[in-house]
Amino acid sequence: MNHHVIIACDFADGRTTLGFLNRFAPLSQKPFVKIGMELFYAEGPDMVRRVKALGHPVFLDLKLHDIPNTVKKAMASLSRLDVDLVNVHAGGGRSMMEAALEGLTRPDGSRSKLIAVTMLTSTDQAMMERDLLIEKPLEEVVLSYAENAKSAGLDGIVCSPLEAAAVHGRCGQEFLTVTPGIRFAEGDKGDQKRVTTPALAKELGSDYIVVGRPITQAADPVEAYGRCVREFVR
Ligand code: C5P
Repeated sequence: MNHHVIIACDFADGRTTLGFLNRFAPLSQKPFVKIGMELFYAEGPDMVRRVKALGHPVFLDLKLHDIPNTVKKAMASLSRLDVDLVNVHAGGGRSMMEAALEGLTRPDGSRSKLIAVTMLTSTDQAMMERDLLIEKPLEEVVLSYAENAKSAGLDGIVCSPLEAAAVHGRCGQEFLTVTPGIRFAEGDKGDQKRVTTPALAKELGSDYIVVGRPITQAADPVEAYGRCVREFVR
C-alpha cells in the first residue's frame, strides 16, 4: 500500500496558494495537495488546473451531498479536471455514492479515486443524537457508513486515524483510509480534538494523512512536510 502525505492548502486565494507551493518547487517529487471548498469556491476549477500543471497530485475535497442524479452530473463535470482523489458524504446514501462513481467514470473506464466522508470529526455523539436523531454509537455509524461506501464500489473513506484499523478490519486492507487530525508531538492542536502524530497514524494503519496547519503555518513548511514524510512514508 502506498502512503502519502497530503498538504491541506486551506488558503483564501490563488495567489497565496501558488506562493506557498512555490517553496516546494525544488522538490523532484511534488507533494500531494488538497484543494477544499474555500479555495475552490474562490478561484474555480482553474485553480485545480494550475496546481496540477505544477506537477502536484490533487485531492479535490468538495464533499458532494445531493440527490443521486445531481451528484452524478456534478461528478461528470469534475471528472474532466482529472484529479487524483475526490469525495462525497456517505450520509447521501448508497445510491448517491453509486451515482457519483458512475458520473466520475469516463467512457474509457478510467476515473479518479473516490472516497466518502463518514462522520465529520466535528460531529460527536451528543450532536448526532440531538440534531440527527441517530442513537447508535458513533464508531458503529462510521463503520456502517464505511461498509456502504465499500459496497457502492468506492475506494475508501475519510476518518480519524483512531478508526483506521477498525475500518480496515471491516472493509479490507486495500480500502483506503484518508485521515486528518495530524499534529507533531509538541504541536498546537488548534480546533482538532482527537489528534495523532504522523508516526502513530502510520502505526494505526492510515494510508494517506491530510496535514494542514502543522505544515502551512510552520516557520519552514518544506522542513515540516519533510518531517511528515520521514515519520509517515519511510
Ligand atoms: O489544519 P489541519 O491539519 O487541522 O487541517 C485538516 C484538514 O482536514 C482541513 O482541511 C479540514 O477541513 C480537513 N478535515 C478534517 N476532518 C474531517 C474532514 C476533513 O479536519 N473529518
